[in-house]
Amino acid sequence: MSTNNPHQPNPHEPAPHQPSAPEPTSREYVLGTNPVELERLGFQHRLWARAAYELWHRAGIRPGHAALDIGCGPGFASFDLAQIVGPTGRVVGIDESEPYVAFANAQAQHRRLPQARFFVADAAAIATLDHLRPSSFDLAYVRWVLCFVPDPGAVVGAIARCLKPGGKLLIQDYFRYETMCVAPRSEAFERVIAAVAKSWRDHGGDSDIMGRLPRLALDAGLTIDHLDRIDPGPARPGSTMWNWPDTFWKIFLPRLEDLGYITAGEKADFLKAWTDRCADPAAFMHLPPMYELIARKA
Ligand SMILES: C[S@@+](CC[C@H](N)C(=O)[O-])C[C@H]1O[C@@H](n2cnc3c(N)ncnc32)[C@H](O)[C@@H]1O
Repeated sequence: MSTNNPHQPNPHEPAPHQPSAPEPTSREYVLGTNPVELERLGFQHRLWARAAYELWHRAGIRPGHAALDIGCGPGFASFDLAQIVGPTGRVVGIDESEPYVAFANAQAQHRRLPQARFFVADAAAIATLDHLRPSSFDLAYVRWVLCFVPDPGAVVGAIARCLKPGGKLLIQDYFRYETMCVAPRSEAFERVIAAVAKSWRDHGGDSDIMGRLPRLALDAGLTIDHLDRIDPGPARPGSTMWNWPDTFWKIFLPRLEDLGYITAGEKADFLKAWTDRCADPAAFMHLPPMYELIARKA
């Protein structure tokens, strides 16, 4: 595990418009952390920002608060959190990806948000970081991370130790990811979705993670204040939500094929089904169900 000096962001941050997606290394999480994925995360954050803000406000975030963003990626949510907590507050972002952390630190400087600092670390090992003292954070936000980690209980426990009494853990993540489908139904589409979920499981993740999180929060000594499903409704061709997974296919389908989760034929069948639905004004997509949880430290 290495840590990153937040005062010396790497000026050679990843170029945001690189055309191809390089292969993730075996150390990286399953989706990779290349510049194309970085750009996808920015788009994804914009699509889901309203749900994030609603959750933060439900939890009572305010200027002066100290917030943690665990598995922050390139920091898109962290920058918004930093604006909300303002110069009297602070945001600490943690991610295992060095390129993402370098990008986030450079961006924080560029956006004049010195209250946001980013460090490279494994989410399960944050207890060993000097700058994360026990009982020092009002809020911790964790979105689309616990579905990728092999020991989510260790992460929840480590976060719980960092929260002040009354501090809140806020999670947004998937439950029943594999129910994602298109109408008219397509076997080719559903085969690929099943392959996506299997690839996450094979890398230690869990596409059903929200089903385990209330129990893990209780085991970490937290009380559950809020649990709900975030439902943006069905996505129709041409809508922004329809385009959300489109960027994901471009990045992840070639990787699924390279790793042997789908064949070239299955990929082609999927793309044909997708292209047909894109052109069909009667089509719609059932998005992968997203849930949210607020758990409080006594
Ligand atoms: C899908 S991205 C989500 C990023 C961000 N939370 C967001 O909502 O935009 C998942 C992130 O989790 C990070 N990650 C996965 N496993 C991790 C771990 N064990 N420790 C720290 N970061 C991890 C990845 O590097 C990646 O940046």
